[in-house]
Amino acid sequence: MNDNFGYTGASIRPGTMRDTNSADTSHSDFMRDLQHGLALQRKSISPKYFYDEAGSQLFDQICELPEYYPTRTEVSILHKHADEIALKMGAHAEILEFGAGSMQKVRVLLDAMDKPARYIPIDISAEHLLGAAKQMAKDYPNLEVEPLEADYTQDLVLPPDMPPDGQRIGFFPGSTLGNFEPSDALHFMRMCAKTLQGGALILGADLVKNPEVLHAAYSDKQGITAQFNLNLMVRANRELGANFQIDQFAHSAFYNAPYQRIEMHLMSTCQQTVRIGDASFAFVQGETLHTENSDKCTIDGLSQLALRAGFTPGKAWTDPENKFCLLWLDAPKTRNPT
Ligand code: AVJ
Repeated sequence: MNDNFGYTGASIRPGTMRDTNSADTSHSDFMRDLQHGLALQRKSISPKYFYDEAGSQLFDQICELPEYYPTRTEVSILHKHADEIALKMGAHAEILEFGAGSMQKVRVLLDAMDKPARYIPIDISAEHLLGAAKQMAKDYPNLEVEPLEADYTQDLVLPPDMPPDGQRIGFFPGSTLGNFEPSDALHFMRMCAKTLQGGALILGADLVKNPEVLHAAYSDKQGITAQFNLNLMVRANRELGANFQIDQFAHSAFYNAPYQRIEMHLMSTCQQTVRIGDASFAFVQGETLHTENSDKCTIDGLSQLALRAGFTPGKAWTDPENKFCLLWLDAPKTRNPT
């Protein structure tokens, strides 16, 4: 099934896309989760719903913003240590990337690796995934590219077989683990440890720092992050027939220091009622819909979590200003106990 994109020499197999988490079900998932989240005392919704096609594009724009340091800092760490990391990965390794997005960071690894065997980008945004995977297959003709449309916050759909003579390496950059509730983060890491079977996970994480730097990164001057946040309601209007008045909600992002996290909210600027499907939800003026937590961490804290999930923490690489880190975590060879 290599003909889908019309490239020769490149092996890309959208035929392997799993249906279990496909977009067919995500509409009703979104409906259910949003209705449930809006009925809560503190209204909230999972940040995974940011990433429709428009949201994925807005996120790519965020990564280019002068205030949004994580992406360029992580990429600089990757560049600086690519050879060392590639050596640890070994020849004929495969990369499983969680939340592959536009697949730019992984290129730094692939370019340094010795005969990478396969690349399995996993993402919740199907359109974005296939477009980017198509480009990867074109740019890396000897690489098998197997996009997997899945919600990796749920139970991971396993890729078919281990690479015959290389390691399986997980790649989870961008500090996306910081979006998870603590219990979900542990669950994900345990699942990951199992999936990687004796390989390793390369985990990117944003470090605790001066709140001013954090505030700027999540409330940029151009208002792109605000647009990204509000797109959740735009999406609900389009996909669920909701009637959010977009101009009656304001972007709010702040660092919650005791919880060590950036919180993003959409704040109602007036008293109003929103209809979604057969339900309606009242907002009082100033009430918020909590849309995202972005946890900031220390290398120590992250290593503790990794240990609890069964990994053995290895080397940590950071930038000179200690803004961001990349952690090498060895996955257990046998299934982890708990
Ligand atoms: C993709 C979750 C890592 O938390 O920094 C960027 C998402 N939200 N600006 C982050 C995001 C607002 C981003 N992650």
